[in-house]
Amino acid sequence: MLNKIKRWKNQSSSSELRERMLKIQEHPIPSHIAIIMDGNGRWASKRALPRIAGHHEGMKVVRKITKLANEVGVKTLTLYAFSTENWKRPKLEVDYIMKLPEEFLGSFLPELVEENVKVQMMGDKNMLPPHTKAAIEKAINDTKQNTGLLLNFALNYGSRTEIIEGIKEVLNDCKSGIINENELNEETFSSYLMTKGLSDPDLLIRTSGEIRLSNFMLWQLAYTEFWFTDVLWPDFEGDHLIEAIEVFQNRQRRFGGV
Ligand code: FPP
Repeated sequence: MLNKIKRWKNQSSSSELRERMLKIQEHPIPSHIAIIMDGNGRWASKRALPRIAGHHEGMKVVRKITKLANEVGVKTLTLYAFSTENWKRPKLEVDYIMKLPEEFLGSFLPELVEENVKVQMMGDKNMLPPHTKAAIEKAINDTKQNTGLLLNFALNYGSRTEIIEGIKEVLNDCKSGIINENELNEETFSSYLMTKGLSDPDLLIRTSGEIRLSNFMLWQLAYTEFWFTDVLWPDFEGDHLIEAIEVFQNRQRRFGGV
């Protein structure tokens, strides 16, 4: 704990933020936070910049927020970086986003290794360009022994496809006798999804003012607390993450009970 505080003292930009950070650690921290990082394009347009400039800025925020989440004790951070629908965007934009994992990991992988962050990805890896896939696989491999924050990139991810693929696998396993139809319940079905082994998100954050899920973790978000903000992802600061956690800590989660 002392080490954590010391490290935080070196990194925080303001003492007020530092205090809020220490304060939230007195209460349960959401174990799994999922973020729909939205608004990169609008951030760029507002500055008369090409959309890709917004994605580049957004990438820098990923680093900052990962660091902070790790420091306050979040166990899993899932970031929606590219959906199965995002392939419909102009080729130049798609190509650029596909270069970001390489750029991000090229610069920050040593830092992630040092900070005990474990990188994971959910989504169909096979459709990714080889350079993107290679960068992700290297990061997964280089951090596989790490035990700190699990940084889970949702890349080429779509929740409906995930569910359909899960159903197909269940049917196959039923046919081949690996499981019995009667054994299928919420828990067993969860193990057929890309989040196998992960807890469901406790907190979902979506930036940019849009109030929708956009095909993100439809099964896993059943009992998640949602926090929406008008802030565009490239403007998202540590303060906003802390605010979301504070709001979460003041919510009463009843999971359908009273
Ligand atoms: C949505 O904003 C954002 C994306 C589709 C891309 C998100 C990617 C990053 C934040 C960088 C990812 C970094 C790594 C390391 C993989 P939008 O473009 O839809 O914004 P708009 O709604 O304002 O147009």
